[in-house]
Amino acid sequence: MLSLQSKQQIDHEIAKYPADQKQSAVMSALRIAQDEHGWLSREVMNSVAEYLGMTPIAVYEVATFYEMYNLKPMGRHKITVCTNLPCALSGATELCDNLKRRLGIDFNEVTPDGEFSLKEGQCFGACGDAPVLLVNNHDMHSFMDEDKVDALLKELKS
Ligand code: FES
Repeated sequence: MLSLQSKQQIDHEIAKYPADQKQSAVMSALRIAQDEHGWLSREVMNSVAEYLGMTPIAVYEVATFYEMYNLKPMGRHKITVCTNLPCALSGATELCDNLKRRLGIDFNEVTPDGEFSLKEGQCFGACGDAPVLLVNNHDMHSFMDEDKVDALLKELKS
């Protein structure tokens, strides 16, 4: 389930830890596996467990704890909105309502065309930029309002 390229990337992460601690690379390995497959199926997580010499349940525990891991297929653009208190006080609730209405989906759903998913996220450590959202776990957007949501959706659709 893991390509040679993914294994090489995981090896690079494993090398950052003592030789007998390769399970310390589990979060990176899951990220790499998710980048390859788009989401973490049971089979993909089992492959990560086998590669790192871990029990599958130990890998599932990590994958189910953090919201950046996709445990089912997501849209091409996964939008994760921080809904923790500083963002909520700065308009995250309205931002989520706007995105749900615009996309026609609720949290953890995928638009019928497969383009978008919406998720609820925990603090991204950017509370001063609230409200914030992430696209595909990497691309952060700050001080989001209706105009910025319009521009972002247009950009992602194009
Ligand atoms: S509460 Fe939203 S980034 Fe910290």
